[in-house]
Amino acid sequence: MPPTDRASEQALLQSVAIVVAAGSGERLGAGRPKGFVAVGGRPMAAWSLDAIAAAGIPRAVVAVPPGHGAAAEELLHRELPLGLAFVEGGATRSESVRNALAAAGPDAEAVLVHDAARPMVTPGLFTRTLAALADADAAIAAARVTDTIKEAGADGIVVRTHDRSRLWAIQTPQAFRAEVLRKALAAGEDVLAQATDDAWLVERAGGIVRVVESPAANFKVTTPHDLALAGSLLC
Ligand code: CTP
Ligand code: MG
Repeated sequence: MPPTDRASEQALLQSVAIVVAAGSGERLGAGRPKGFVAVGGRPMAAWSLDAIAAAGIPRAVVAVPPGHGAAAEELLHRELPLGLAFVEGGATRSESVRNALAAAGPDAEAVLVHDAARPMVTPGLFTRTLAALADADAAIAAARVTDTIKEAGADGIVVRTHDRSRLWAIQTPQAFRAEVLRKALAAGEDVLAQATDDAWLVERAGGIVRVVESPAANFKVTTPHDLALAGSLLC
């Protein structure tokens, strides 16, 4: 095996995936947590677990809403070549990641954080983000921005137009060196509450964060329209 293959094989063996599925799915309005909602005939989170297993990542910890552990086990615990554990999530996404990381054990060297709400993720995107950690503290899936982005004041008047060629819309998976993520998540509650993604916590601590271009369909299911679109892609 060439050295680079051996290195990526090693990274896979020492990695753990965290799937955050502890949100309430209010904007979807399905009356149950989003990760459990059926899409393409299966619970939404199951698609991500399949991609994780197909990427060769040996373990996953799924954060689910408090009180939903048994339901999650029943819906998601299937015959996958994957060590699977469930933990209770927290009030914010960062808290859910922190609870899952605590359950991941001390031996993981790389952690891949992924939203259960992105069921179109591919195994290749997991392996590419993990590989991009070789020269970064975090490597994050991202899509090039295709709309022109303008910034406006509170009065609705445009103040500037940003250079689109340098703009990326950030998604998941997000890969981290485990130590870097542990330190980032040790920030105070006020800081965690502001974080819409974990990579921002690494950025603010001066870490190197690299973007990894995603395939087009890795969008997040947020609204009923998104669910219908995902259903048509995942059948
Ligand atoms: N998430 C989580 N813990 C939270 C909040 C969110 O694990 N306290 C997870 C969600 O389950 C989802 C991902 O983070 O997989 C992205 O969040 P979002 O799309 O906002 O999902 P929800 O919070 O469930 O949806 P909504 O905001 O509409 O209630
Ligand atoms: Mg939310």
